[in-house]
Amino acid sequence: MTKTILVTGGAGFIGSHTAVELLQRDYDVVIADDLSNSSAKAIDVVSSLGGGGNVAFHKVDLTDESLVAELFDEHPIEAVVHFAGLKAVGESVEKPIHYYRTNLISTMNLLSQMANHQVWDFVFSSSATVYGTPEQLPIPETAPTGATNPYGRTKLMIEEICQDLAAADDRWRMSLLRYFNPVGAHASGQLGEDPRGIPNNLVPFVMQVAVGRRDKLQVFGGDWDTHDGSGVRDYIHVVDLAAGHLAALETLSEGCEAYNLGTGNGSSVLDIISTAEQVSGKSIPYDIVERRSGDIATSLADPSKANQELGWRADRNLEAMLTDSWRWQSMNPMGFADSSD
Ligand code: UFG
Repeated sequence: MTKTILVTGGAGFIGSHTAVELLQRDYDVVIADDLSNSSAKAIDVVSSLGGGGNVAFHKVDLTDESLVAELFDEHPIEAVVHFAGLKAVGESVEKPIHYYRTNLISTMNLLSQMANHQVWDFVFSSSATVYGTPEQLPIPETAPTGATNPYGRTKLMIEEICQDLAAADDRWRMSLLRYFNPVGAHASGQLGEDPRGIPNNLVPFVMQVAVGRRDKLQVFGGDWDTHDGSGVRDYIHVVDLAAGHLAALETLSEGCEAYNLGTGNGSSVLDIISTAEQVSGKSIPYDIVERRSGDIATSLADPSKANQELGWRADRNLEAMLTDSWRWQSMNPMGFADSSD
């Protein structure tokens, strides 16, 4: 029997790649997205790459509970993978109410309509940001949590809401997936990250320099306590990350569990620049500037819990990640704005 999965934020970077993997495993997918930070063109690409299952798309604001209820009334949804939400750290500091309202209310609407419709399987898009400034590296799921900005606090609050629900009713089966730094793109070159405006994140910025959209990268800090002085992160290929969602969905059990999704390998900003130059054949000019406020030297996952309990492992290396990011960026220099309607 084909299962129908609701993918909120399914037009976004990670959501769209996960929707493709679900379709290829013959799930039917209902995508709910308000397109506030994504393109409807991604939905067409998801349908064409997905093959097997059916895609239904609803342009919907999840902060309106009656619209959330309609999704469950209209489709035989059996599980929810929840990506939808705002995710820019700096913007969340400027507009905290906007972040709390959007991320928390949409999630509470979803969870309450799930319960109303007897749907108990929930996979949540969390973040390594819930570890705040880590005291231990690599970071295990048992590390202390603590957010350093409103965006991070919404992720942490939602995790805690899920823990409370699972404690209150043992029908809930929940997975909290703490992503490290997702990069890369679909191997077809048709699906990738397409940030609006100036990219906040490193790899989209690097790719826009490589493709000639921007002149130069700023490297935030050259005096961190790392192998070359630039910040170190655990980059993970978005297709590996998408596969982690399928693994989580297919191994859900009673209660609420958190899993790190990362590789366990660290790469510095300068490692990213040199690998991106190598795979693109372009030079990437940069200046080393002041540290960015709120940054940390190193973030690195201990992914062993996900490896063991989900039977999942991220196996694409940095070169593969950046080769795929470059294929997407060079085929679509302006992102989805390049694809024909
Ligand atoms: N960096 C630069 N120049 C840039 C952008 C980033 O040098 O123009 C550096 C940062 O200082 C950091 C590294 O590149 O050392 C990665 O930065 P990103 O902004 O790509 O990623 P972060 O690790 O800062 O942020 C990610 C997610 C956030 C999440 C955070 C903590 O994007 O959503 O991890 O988990 F909150």
